[in-house]
Amino acid sequence: MKQIQNKKILITGGAGFIGSHVVRLFVNKYSDYHIFNLDALTYAGNLENLKDVETAENYTFLKADICDRKQVADFFEKYNFDTVIHMAAESHVDRSITNPFAFVETNVMGTLNLLHAANNSWKNSDKNHLFFHISTDEVYGTLGDTGLFTEQTAYDPNSPYSASKASSDHFVRAFGETFGLPYIISNCSNNYGPNQFPEKLIPLFINNIINNKVLPVYGDGNYTRDWLYVIDHAIAIHLILEKGKIGETYNIGGFNEWKNIDLVKTLCKQMDEKLNRPAGESEKLITYVKDRPGHDLRYAIDASKINKELGWKPSVTFEKGLSKTIDWYLNNEVWLKNVTTGAYQKYYSGQYS
Ligand code: NAD
Ligand code: TYD
Repeated sequence: MKQIQNKKILITGGAGFIGSHVVRLFVNKYSDYHIFNLDALTYAGNLENLKDVETAENYTFLKADICDRKQVADFFEKYNFDTVIHMAAESHVDRSITNPFAFVETNVMGTLNLLHAANNSWKNSDKNHLFFHISTDEVYGTLGDTGLFTEQTAYDPNSPYSASKASSDHFVRAFGETFGLPYIISNCSNNYGPNQFPEKLIPLFINNIINNKVLPVYGDGNYTRDWLYVIDHAIAIHLILEKGKIGETYNIGGFNEWKNIDLVKTLCKQMDEKLNRPAGESEKLITYVKDRPGHDLRYAIDASKINKELGWKPSVTFEKGLSKTIDWYLNNEVWLKNVTTGAYQKYYSGQYS
């Protein structure tokens, strides 16, 4: 039976990077569903990301913190959400090293509040409900030079960020087992694309190249990540919501592994071309800096389950996705300026000085 007969979808963290693409997709696709975006607007949340849908009739923004248990419960009571897509989180590994408490508060306690409220609201209902928890491949820990994370890989998180996400995944599963809460979990690899806050590798380096600032590559740069264009992640989320099986986990990945240093050199080349700078100019900005503590060597996803069972695969090649991403940042100078003043400067000097 299709789960997406539901009418009121709560998306948490919809003002953030991935959340804003998911909100846009759902608001535009489902004029007969109401999309609620609950977001605390932390440093990573930005309503500018949703300017084009903010006046849509089927969209409501709810400013709230998922750590506020009463507020969350009140919203469930008031709006009777049928489905939750839970994306609100503290999401940056480096920040989790300097302030792990915020990660436990939002990612663990905040998730628990949502689970508790959803369970209370749905326990005597005979409608179709779904708690769809958006997680990361980082819960699986790190790989050596070979191998892939499958849905069966044991959890082995190494950073406070991944430990908090792993914990939240366990709570979701526990609510399924203990209370019968209908849930799905997806674990995705590194996303990139428009609207990503410039603390993560790709947007941070784009911003630094624009401003002729050094490109701080951690360690020897030989760390590997799998990269997925954010809109392909949003499409996967939509597909899982429509066709995914309750109680299952789906790994989502780009079939697109890059060593950091190779990715950075590719980025530099494209930036030189787009900025009409001499070839090799941006590469000169590469600076090897002190490594991230506990730095995971390699993440790589086996996305064959979602591919075989739901027919999903990435639609955008990395070169094309990267080009579109750079163009977006070059065309959205004001957005970039607005998010890189004040608090960002303080964060930047604390992290990189
Ligand atoms: P982001 O940091 O860009 O956005 C997070 C959003 O959550 C922001 O809008 C922020 O305001 C909101 N938020 C934070 N704390 C909150 C709180 N206490 N209450 C309510 N709202 C709060 O994150 P993102 O990169 O878009 O990631 C979204 C989700 O996807 C996260 O759960 C993350 O773990 C997961 N994920 C991210 C990636 C990635 O590469 N970015 C990959 C896999 C999974
Ligand atoms: P990041 O974008 O923070 O994502 P994650 O840690 O969740 O994978 O980092 C991607 C890779 O880039 C990771 O190996 C760390 C590295 N990195 C740098 O070398 N320099 C930087 O300034 C940042 C932010 C990341």
